[in-house]
Formats: sequence, C-alpha cells, structure tokens
Amino acid sequence: MTVIAADQLKDLVEQVKPWLGSGAVSNYLPELSQARPDDLAVAVDFGEDGVVTAGDRIAKFTLQSVVKVFTLLLALHHRGKDYVFERVGCDQALGSYNSLESFVRTSGVPVNPFVNAGALVIVDMLPGHDPDDRVASVLDFVRALANNPAIGVDLGTARSELMLADQNRALAYYLRGHNFVSTTVEELLWAYCQMCAIEVDVVDLATAGRMLSESTDICVMGEMLDASHLRLVRRLMLSTGMYEASGHYACEVGIPAKCGVSGAMMGVVRHHKGIGIYGPALDASGNSIGGLRLMQLLSKLLDVD
Ligand code: DON
Repeated sequence: MTVIAADQLKDLVEQVKPWLGSGAVSNYLPELSQARPDDLAVAVDFGEDGVVTAGDRIAKFTLQSVVKVFTLLLALHHRGKDYVFERVGCDQALGSYNSLESFVRTSGVPVNPFVNAGALVIVDMLPGHDPDDRVASVLDFVRALANNPAIGVDLGTARSELMLADQNRALAYYLRGHNFVSTTVEELLWAYCQMCAIEVDVVDLATAGRMLSESTDICVMGEMLDASHLRLVRRLMLSTGMYEASGHYACEVGIPAKCGVSGAMMGVVRHHKGIGIYGPALDASGNSIGGLRLMQLLSKLLDVD
C-alpha cells in the first residue's frame, strides 16, 4: 500500500498553489465570498496507516454540493435502487448544476442526483416526519461517516442561501408542480440549504471518503450499508461528480470525487483511502482549481488506474 509522507503532501500543495490565481471564490453568498482564494488544504485518510494532512488543516467550510453524495447514499439505503432511479437519472449533466433548461431529460426525470433538481428530489425522499428530521438524519450520517460527533450546521450560511435561493426555488416549484416532490417548496429548500451548510474540515472529508471506499457492506449507526450502494455512488461520483467537466475529470484523474461551491472536495480511493480537500478558488464550472490539480497529482502517487 502506498502511504504518502507529510512532506510529500506538503510539496504537492506548494506545486498547486501557483494555479489558484486563475480562479475565484464563490460570491453568490456573503459567507462564501469571505473565503481566501489562496487557501488550500488536503488530508488523506489511509485507515489503519493514519491520516496525513498538509495546508491549513483546521480551516472549516461548508459541504455545499458534497452533501449530495451523503443524501444519495441515505436515499439508496432507505428506499432502494429502483425507487431512487425511477425518480432521478444517472446521466451526465448538460449544463450547470442549477440550470433550469437541462435538468429534465426526455424521460422527464432530473438528469442525475448531483444536479440541484435531482438533489431536491433526493431530499424529498429521505425518511423523517418533517424536513428538520431529515436534516438531523443527514447530519448524524455525516458525523458517523466522518467519525466526528462535533460536526454541525452553519445556520448563518444556510439562512443566506435560503434568502438567495431563487434559482433553486424555481426548480423546486417546477418539481412540485410536476409531482416529483411532495414537501412544500419552502420546507424542501430550508432542509436542502441546511444540509449544504453542514460544516466540516478536510480530515472529516477524508475519513468519510475512506468509509465510502469499502468494497463490503459497512456498519454506520448500527445499520448495514449495502456494498452495492457504495459502488453505485462511487460510479456516479466518477461519471457526474464534476458536472459538465465530469468526462474530462474521469479521464485525467479517475478518482471518484464530488465538489462543492465552497471549495470542498471529497475523493474516494480503492483499498481503504479517502481524500478531503479545501480549495475555495473555483474554475468556470464551479469546481475547485486546487482540488482538481491535487486530485490529479494524488492519482499518480496513489497509483489509481
Ligand atoms: O444549491 C446551491 O446553490 C449550493 N448550496 C450548492 C451548490 C454547489 O455546491 C454546486 N457545486 N459545485
């Protein structure tokens, strides 16, 4: 097994830093616009061989779209594959993550669970008596996978997102109007915004990523998660995790990963390894510039085929 030394990981961060200047931090929420574009942190969890970190390990950030990996896995666990994929597709997105035009294919369902339309449908199908229950179950799930009970929701970011969520609101009205979701629009959005605002650090992401790398059933909160669901989620991360840049990413990097507009990125590497990255400078597709470059270098070092 290849274990990377802390010095090696630090070197990778230094190699990537010059590229950060070509990106910009997300500015659609005040909370996200305060991020520093030259921040870059990474953690790799090697399971029994420990966690190696480089960069600003203690920086905290919100999951944003990375949460869609966890909500999908929970939905698969509670509803099963057939139920989930009758309601969302598993195809590549044609436009941006919150695009109004391209989320419905001719079959009529949102194109995949990682574009916002699909993610809202997934949130609607999570178990719980009300939206707060659903947020609590996602939060507990993330805490368990990351092995960190202190993980919480940044309510300031969630409230900002709710106020500025008109594009997501439009998607939610469309979805409710076509009976894709049964939760009321505002309840659905508030649940989604809180889930996106779950606050983590790179070690949390690396540990959760490592859990998702397992090839057998795993026990989370006393329940067995099916290995076939983990495999399906990894395949979707590789094929659609980077939105319209997914094909290029799959060819160049090959590590199943998911990014968020905060600069969060979680990677899942075979044989019990997980990667967590924070790099808030984003490219035009909304993916972390530092994250993409670090993943590319890590895929060589970790011998991903
Ligand atoms: O729905 C939104 O706009 C955000 N809360 C999440 C979007 C996101 O992270 C897209 N990923 N790059």
